[in-house]
Amino acid sequence: MRTARALGLVAAALVVAAVVGADAARDPTRSSRPRELDKTYDADFDYFVYTMTWPGTFCEEKHCTKEPRYFTVHGLWPNYENGKWPAFCNSSYPFDENEIEDLLPVMNERWPDVLSSHEGDWLWSHEWDKHGTCAKPVLNGEHEYFAKALELYDILNPTEVFAQNGMIPSNTRTYDRDQVISVLTKSFGDTFVIGCQESGKDLFQIEFCLQKNFQGRNCGKSANSNCSSRIRIPN
Ligand SMILES: *[C@@H]1O[C@H](CO)[C@@H](O)[C@H](O)[C@H]1NC(C)=O
Ligand SMILES: *[C@@H]1O[C@H](CO)[C@@H](O)[C@H](O)[C@H]1NC(C)=O
Repeated sequence: MRTARALGLVAAALVVAAVVGADAARDPTRSSRPRELDKTYDADFDYFVYTMTWPGTFCEEKHCTKEPRYFTVHGLWPNYENGKWPAFCNSSYPFDENEIEDLLPVMNERWPDVLSSHEGDWLWSHEWDKHGTCAKPVLNGEHEYFAKALELYDILNPTEVFAQNGMIPSNTRTYDRDQVISVLTKSFGDTFVIGCQESGKDLFQIEFCLQKNFQGRNCGKSANSNCSSRIRIPN
């Protein structure tokens, strides 16, 4: 009897812990996740999310030091099928810029930290520590991780697709959301989700979903996360 009750309490505590964990994982900003989740890390993630940001929208709310007129890489994130993701998987392998010295010119172009007054080292270090260390065993080590993300940029280039379809960045023009999705689908198939800011008016990011062999795959949800029916690609 006593044992059963004690077990019940343990079970209840586990449920509370699981719910708290799930809330942290749902944090849409992917910022301050508690480091202690390190301990529950499971190397066997399911797929990658490759996220590209439109600086014209990102910089509306932030003080940017540079504002490229093309999509930039935000990150390459291991993900689980259930929508959660592993984070901070190896604290004994902190970011070291020397390891990617040969990639820096392309990193600065394709993966800039638009908030930094120098080069992108804060963003790179954050992305590596939080997500890159979890990409094992598919991508082993910093160089492989960043080189792969830069290589994907050649294949997944929404800037070019929009330009080819006459969807030029503009602060005054708006585009039909379904048209935007259809133009992207023609090039990339059903492998992405678009996200907007400013109450859904401005295109903010495109998340591409990739299998562990980097072939595109379905994201398991609608291609539109929160964009209104007409959207801008602000200049
Ligand atoms: C963490 O990184 C260190 C340094 O590169 C490496 O020796 C170790 O094997 C890594 N641990 C895991 C679990 O990947
Ligand atoms: C829309 O969703 C994206 C993630 O897909 C998120 O980054 C963004 O903050 C959301 N925007 C709003 C206004 O909720």
